[in-house]
Amino acid sequence: MKSVDCNTWHVPVLLDTVIDYLSIEPNGLYIDLTVGGGGHSTAILERLEEGGRLLAADRDPVALTVSSERLKSVETKAAFDMIQAKFSEFPSWLAEDDIGHIDGLLADLGVSSYQLDASERGFSYLHDGPLDMRMNPDQKETAADLIAKLRESDLIALLRLYGEEQYAYLIAKAIVERRDKTPITTTGELADIIVSAVPSHARRGGNPARRTFQALRMAVNHEQEELSYLLQVLPEVMAPNGRVAIISFHSLEDRMVKQAMRRWESPCDCPRDFPVCVCGKKPLGRSITTRPIMANEAECERNRRARSAKLRVFEFGEVDV
Ligand SMILES: C[S@@+](CC[C@H](N)C(=O)[O-])C[C@H]1O[C@@H](n2cnc3c(N)ncnc32)[C@H](O)[C@@H]1O
Repeated sequence: MKSVDCNTWHVPVLLDTVIDYLSIEPNGLYIDLTVGGGGHSTAILERLEEGGRLLAADRDPVALTVSSERLKSVETKAAFDMIQAKFSEFPSWLAEDDIGHIDGLLADLGVSSYQLDASERGFSYLHDGPLDMRMNPDQKETAADLIAKLRESDLIALLRLYGEEQYAYLIAKAIVERRDKTPITTTGELADIIVSAVPSHARRGGNPARRTFQALRMAVNHEQEELSYLLQVLPEVMAPNGRVAIISFHSLEDRMVKQAMRRWESPCDCPRDFPVCVCGKKPLGRSITTRPIMANEAECERNRRARSAKLRVFEFGEVDV
């Protein structure tokens, strides 16, 4: 790996806002499930003191190497640990005593700028490289494998669901025609196929390959399933008053987060016409953000990724009803 400048590796979005909302206790236990380049984790660790702990995880081994160097340079008496794991492996790596004692947890979804820009990782339609897109290179299936095996109808559905791609039919058809002659193995080939498949007016605005690449990345890494799993386990692991902050970049993911937080806030499933609750399900806490928090104009100017970021925060614990 080349030497790394953490400041350009990935610029964390909504950094100060996330830190404010996490309302950090200096001796608390904090978990960053998406450490990436370590921007958010560094800011958390800087606010911890002796007795405080940060557990920083990511499924990408390169992210862990880069961010652990960065975290080591923070002057603090607090402890930190790095864990290579995906959401669906959480909380198996957590000590039993820590379950129910997490004071704050962050999930900053999607990919880092490094992952997107490094041609060898195969996420980018702008830089030619192997058609890979695995956040963890030990995972078996690459984007090339997926493209080779999906039925045309499944490819169309995937591009529509994860890519919100209006030319899904044309793109899927072009992919299938090409792969029947020769396998598609590079990001450059795929980007060219997409550009040729869409109508000429669709080539004007942004790059027409963007949505297909996003959809494939989400499918290769099972991003929706991972988030769904995480949202199920969070209520079991957080401390009373513990706060969960989730940043999403896709409307589907923001909807999943919003709906989970609503369920946590109002779990009662009694029929609407029941005069009183008989199911006995009590609120697990309260949403701190009624609407998603978005980056201001200045941040969006500095960091293009911030434009689609949506932050939602939930505080677990008893609520007065
Ligand atoms: C947007 S970046 C995080 C950036 C980070 N907050 C920072 O300040 O640099 C997202 C990171 O989450 C990781 N990631 C995405 N989905 C994951 C999952 N299901 N499990 C573990 N890590 C995941 C990616 O590998 C990537 O490094």
